[in-house]
Amino acid sequence: MNSSITFPSGNPYRGSIELSIDPASYDDPGKEKQGLVVHIYTDDLHLRSVEISDLNDSIGLYKCAENMKNYGAGQPWEDSISERLVQRWSDDWKKGNPFSGFSIFKRNVSGVQDSEPFIGHICFKSGENNKAYGGNTEAGSSEMTFMIDHKYWKKGYGKQAAAAMVNGVAPEYQKQGFKVTCALPDNTQESLPLEWLTATASPENRGSVKILTGLGFEFEGILEKQFVKGKSIKNFYAKPLSKPVR
Ligand SMILES: CC(C)(COP(=O)(O)OP(=O)(O)OC[C@H]1O[C@@H](n2cnc3c(N)ncnc32)[C@H](O)[C@@H]1OP(=O)(O)O)[C@@H](O)C(=O)NCCC(=O)NCCS
Repeated sequence: MNSSITFPSGNPYRGSIELSIDPASYDDPGKEKQGLVVHIYTDDLHLRSVEISDLNDSIGLYKCAENMKNYGAGQPWEDSISERLVQRWSDDWKKGNPFSGFSIFKRNVSGVQDSEPFIGHICFKSGENNKAYGGNTEAGSSEMTFMIDHKYWKKGYGKQAAAAMVNGVAPEYQKQGFKVTCALPDNTQESLPLEWLTATASPENRGSVKILTGLGFEFEGILEKQFVKGKSIKNFYAKPLSKPVR
């Protein structure tokens, strides 16, 4: 770790996290259930596995220059990029791969889900290259990415969504034995038990850095990352999870 760099340290979320992971058949109710649907509730948020019906909201999220200034390569996305992302996440859930995207809604305290406004996405990715962990090809890792619409910034929602994933979803995935597909140094892919979470953040993205440090992520180094819309320099963070029971 580079001790000459100092980072703002975030305050952790201490509210409730409730989680359900259920089998689902998306296309044909009579068909064998191989898909998954996940709902998570925090004090203020409802997170749900991404569905195609989230597409219009998602396009608006990634099209907005303010939302995108510290995300990926810092450029707004064309609609087609958002469409591919939402399609991929939705397909992952249908296939029962839980390393996928969640839509985040502002929870309606009256319990009426239809009137919950969409406020962003959070994701556990799969397919990450796990070279970063000393060549340990037995330990799976997943990168967490997140995006809250700027209209909802600085209300504690990013922190709650990330805490729901790190403290709720990750341990539950470990308990249920969900494995994450990782790219190995020899360019093959393998499904591995989840043992690490990683994240990247632009150095100037203080909100993101506070969320990550508040959850126990440690700065590991600086890397140049290739995104759909170009390259950018990111701080790289990682957090070891408790070992899953194998
Ligand atoms: C980064 C982001 C998720 C923060 O979301 P948010 O809902 O505004 O964050 P929160 O309100 O939960 O704030 C978390 C902490 O960061 C602080 N914070 C948030 N925005 C900040 C800012 N612009 N400057 C300084 N501190 C900030 C909060 O005060 C809070 O501090 P605390 O831990 O001491 O309480 C949001 O700005 C965003 O989605 N940005 C665009 C996408 C992005 O950058 N994603 C991250 C990379 S994957």
